[in-house]
Amino acid sequence: MASNVSSPPTPITLPNSSIQTSFLPKTSQLSIFKKKKLVSCKASNEHSSSSNRFDRRDLLLGLGGLYGATNLANDPFALAAPVAAPDLDLCEKSTVTSNSAGTINVACCPPKLKDAVDFKPPNFSKIRYRPAAHLADRHYVDKFNRAMELMKGLPEDDPRNFMQQANVHCAYCNGAYDNSGLGIPNQELQVHFSWLFFPFHRLYLYFYERILGKLIGDPDFAMPFWNWDSPDGMVIPEIYANPNSPLYDEKRNVNHQPPNMVDLDFAGVEEGLSNSDLIKSNLSVMYRQMVRNRTATLFHGSAYRAGDKPSPGQGAIENNPHTAIHRWVGDQRQPYKEDMGNFYSAGRDPLFYAHHSNIDRLWNVWKSLPGKKRCDFPDTDWLDSSFLFYDENADLVRVKVRDALDTTTLGYDYQRVDLPWLRYKPTPRPRSGRGRGRGHGHGHNHGRGRGHAVAAETNNTGTIRNVYPIVLDKLVRIEVPRPKKYRTRVEKEEEEEVLVFQNIQLDRDVSVKFDVYINDEDDETPTKPEDSEFAGSFTNLPHNHHHPGVKLDTNMTLPISDLLEDLDVEGDDNILVTLVPKEGKGLVSIGNIKIDYIRD
Ligand code: C2O
Repeated sequence: MASNVSSPPTPITLPNSSIQTSFLPKTSQLSIFKKKKLVSCKASNEHSSSSNRFDRRDLLLGLGGLYGATNLANDPFALAAPVAAPDLDLCEKSTVTSNSAGTINVACCPPKLKDAVDFKPPNFSKIRYRPAAHLADRHYVDKFNRAMELMKGLPEDDPRNFMQQANVHCAYCNGAYDNSGLGIPNQELQVHFSWLFFPFHRLYLYFYERILGKLIGDPDFAMPFWNWDSPDGMVIPEIYANPNSPLYDEKRNVNHQPPNMVDLDFAGVEEGLSNSDLIKSNLSVMYRQMVRNRTATLFHGSAYRAGDKPSPGQGAIENNPHTAIHRWVGDQRQPYKEDMGNFYSAGRDPLFYAHHSNIDRLWNVWKSLPGKKRCDFPDTDWLDSSFLFYDENADLVRVKVRDALDTTTLGYDYQRVDLPWLRYKPTPRPRSGRGRGRGHGHGHNHGRGRGHAVAAETNNTGTIRNVYPIVLDKLVRIEVPRPKKYRTRVEKEEEEEVLVFQNIQLDRDVSVKFDVYINDEDDETPTKPEDSEFAGSFTNLPHNHHHPGVKLDTNMTLPISDLLEDLDVEGDDNILVTLVPKEGKGLVSIGNIKIDYIRD
């Protein structure tokens, strides 16, 4: 490891950028962000691709009206429209299942008290700053505790009550609502595994915070964030670990109380790493997810429109470390790994909101890093997607993704803290004795690891035998062809080379994690997040579908331009992809793996 966590921050240059900056979280950083946003994010807005889809929808509506459109339910691209706020009258009980614990039904629908009004951005006199939880002072903590106590003490049927608020998450994640859009039945609404992940959670927390502020008569109250991306924040913050506090939850993993350090690469078992190894691993995970995932699709997740099948694909942070932290906090003794370890119950742990506050903060940080593709989607199907929440006055509010893009229009921002992971670029391992030189473009297929599968094989009768779907019951190595070689710097800035996993299928209620390595030829245990070969992980947090038993069928897109450059294999015809099941062996199948090039 070239740098040490305690060393002073040094200037760094990020890939794909000519801007050199220390990245100390100062106002100068903010001004880079503002300038960049005006120049490049605006330019990309002119190329919004949604207009064609709108034409198509208008045409469909003109031809068949709402019912005519129903026939197109199986074509995910036929009906482009924003995901509509759910109809509370149609909210249904959620089902929670697990192999070992069976099935339960939970009632997590909100009360329908009145009709929804459209959200208006708030008036405020000053920006409120969300503090890092481990830095909060006594006075703040007292106030926060009082607010949480009051929320827990509200009448059970008050939509602002603690359990009612927890149920908001349950309803949006566990199949209680329908994503019926323009009359298409049976597509459930799911706010994870797609581009709705960041805006939904931002708005959910926004109203939660407003309710807390109202209860203590302090409209400037701001919730804390759990700063798990920095070594000092890598334990459950003390204020949440005091059993006498309303911030405490007893349904947490007993082995993960302070001072035990969080593992952002957690796969369900204790790996026994030392704290310094955990810090290195955690900061490398953060670097990869934040710096390498530099387009909207990579960061936010895949497009998801009205009537679409849910769960098209998670973005980088949702996949990891978001899910790892849920799993790490969740209580292994509970039948469904409550509270944090299952979507239906996650909102019952006050720590959930500090966890997601950090995720929300990272959305701001991501947009502030150099790179011209670090912009939110200009797509109006995203911008006009809407949700319903009860606000601090118990009014039902319809709010759109476009209302959530800038935290300062919502009246809040984050305390500036160091971003130590910016100095943790994964390092290529020395190649000596690894059975292969590192010269450009030679021997892509020779002397390679023993016994790995290839994407397609020709048998002796000349027919092609496809190896897909791959059932991931053991380590799998597979060659994946690259359509383009030796791309120029400009091409690489315009288009990210990505590894796409299509039709990843699994039961929704199982915990799964598998890791992906590129050109890692060792037969021994593969490398760790610190090494260049590590491309990313797929994770699933147990949840359920509207119709129990419907499998999760999703995709994953990992950026690999930087990896190929670091590994010095940009001239190769194929890359060797190694898949390592870490949790849920044999429970996942992958329909196809290919290389693609994406612009946003
Ligand atoms: Cu909506 Cu962290 O889950």
